[in-house]
Amino acid sequence: MTLHAAVHLHPRLAVGPVRRRTFGSFVEHMARCVYTGIFEPDHPSADADGLRTDVLELVRELGVSSVRYPGGNFVSGYRWEDGVGPREHRPVRRDLAWHSTETNAFGLDEFMTWADAADVEPMYAVNLGTRGTQEALDVLEYANGSVGTDLADHRALNGHAEPYGIRMWCLGNEMDGPWQLGHVPARDYAVLAAETARAMRRADPDLELVACGSSHAGMPTFGAWEQAVLEAGYDAIDMLSAHVYYREEDGDQASYLASADDMDAYIDAVVATSDHVRALRGADRRIMISFDEWNVAASRGDAGKEPSGSDWPVAPRFAESTYSAQDAVVVGSLLISLLRHTDRVASASQAQLVNVLAPIRTEVGGAAWRQSIFHPFALTSRHARGQVLVTGVDSPAVENSRFGESAALYSVATWDEETGQLAVFAVNRSGADALELDMDLAAFGDADVGERAGGGGHAGFELADAVLLHEDDPHRTNSARRPDRVVPHPLQDVTLENTGGDAPASSRLTATLPPISWTMIRLQRTR
Ligand code: AHR
Repeated sequence: MTLHAAVHLHPRLAVGPVRRRTFGSFVEHMARCVYTGIFEPDHPSADADGLRTDVLELVRELGVSSVRYPGGNFVSGYRWEDGVGPREHRPVRRDLAWHSTETNAFGLDEFMTWADAADVEPMYAVNLGTRGTQEALDVLEYANGSVGTDLADHRALNGHAEPYGIRMWCLGNEMDGPWQLGHVPARDYAVLAAETARAMRRADPDLELVACGSSHAGMPTFGAWEQAVLEAGYDAIDMLSAHVYYREEDGDQASYLASADDMDAYIDAVVATSDHVRALRGADRRIMISFDEWNVAASRGDAGKEPSGSDWPVAPRFAESTYSAQDAVVVGSLLISLLRHTDRVASASQAQLVNVLAPIRTEVGGAAWRQSIFHPFALTSRHARGQVLVTGVDSPAVENSRFGESAALYSVATWDEETGQLAVFAVNRSGADALELDMDLAAFGDADVGERAGGGGHAGFELADAVLLHEDDPHRTNSARRPDRVVPHPLQDVTLENTGGDAPASSRLTATLPPISWTMIRLQRTR
């Protein structure tokens, strides 16, 4: 059976701008993300700083905009000063978050060197688990202070005279979670985060500060936690964090494919809570969301085991999800959800970047390769431009046990009026049926739009590109030996019709999307 769905767009009905920070990622001192992931001095591709240049190339290709560092759960027991200065003096310590040994061979200065080489904006998390306001101020001074004060001079002594100018700072990590070192009740964290934010702002009023929201929407304190944090620190923070990881539970493929419905509801709930506090306070400014951990976890394959007992290894191999075509489709849909909420999601970080739940995998001393989930991320980051359009979707529903019914077609479009590029990102979430998508682009041929597009009243489109990520076996994966088994292919079944003559041109796009597929279609306005 073929399902039919219609998409309705108007070039002047926009949710908001595409934000580069939507395409952020996350590097944590966890398992093999840092050591043998981005940093491996003995690797054949390593540069003079020990950075893997094969990985750097893939990070640039992935189109990552910003990277959160150094954790995650790791940060809640971390002493940032262990990781700076001469390596031979850096202490080796136990990392209680991941039952590992931290050599501290890689720290803030190395991360900033890497961020520069990768061309990404840094986002730095301070430890509000076992530490507090003073240590947050210290690392801020080390990172951003101008020489002439103690810690800024230390940075200069360590070879970095210029301040780093890090703008985005996270006030701890998942402090609502009982697994977190230094976990406290909402009110305690709220006061600590607010006071730390106020103190950091005294040092630099232009920082963008992210307070911890809930670790996921299923936490028993979800909502109440956000409210407490906002009530204590509304004036001092800019963003509230959100985290989520989806996986196929108990073979429930239909619910997994519809995961973006949960992300939509999660974002809507945080926005509602935050706007409620805004109303109570009579504030003008809106608090935005930093979705600074989001991803899927593979439900199959051996991802490795977290160490335990007397074993405290350096860079152990665990959380190495091997992703399938189906996982890539869900990742594509989660990016669509983030774009659809571009009015309130100001920043996002896929968790993580290399090896740990990651689009990029590496072997020690060996290859680096793209996992299936690499592709929808790279293409969306590269081609989502301009404004996110309000994307009206009229779609048949597919049933699933988690949401009851979900729209089979999940989609978003971006429109760059300057360059005349329209990009459509779409997922067919049906597990069994192909879906015919029908998009009426008549509104783009409107005389006024055509005029502004420099086309003298005529603004038709031509097809620039149409790609499909779909495998007959949705569980197919990439590996070091076969890194290109799951890659996007040209979408064959796509038609663009332009009509109009002397009247404003009118275009209609139709395409057939196979079940469990992610598609990107790019159109170029003709003048
Ligand atoms: O990304 C892995 C872990 O998941 C992070 O350290 C933590 O913040 C989250 O629970």
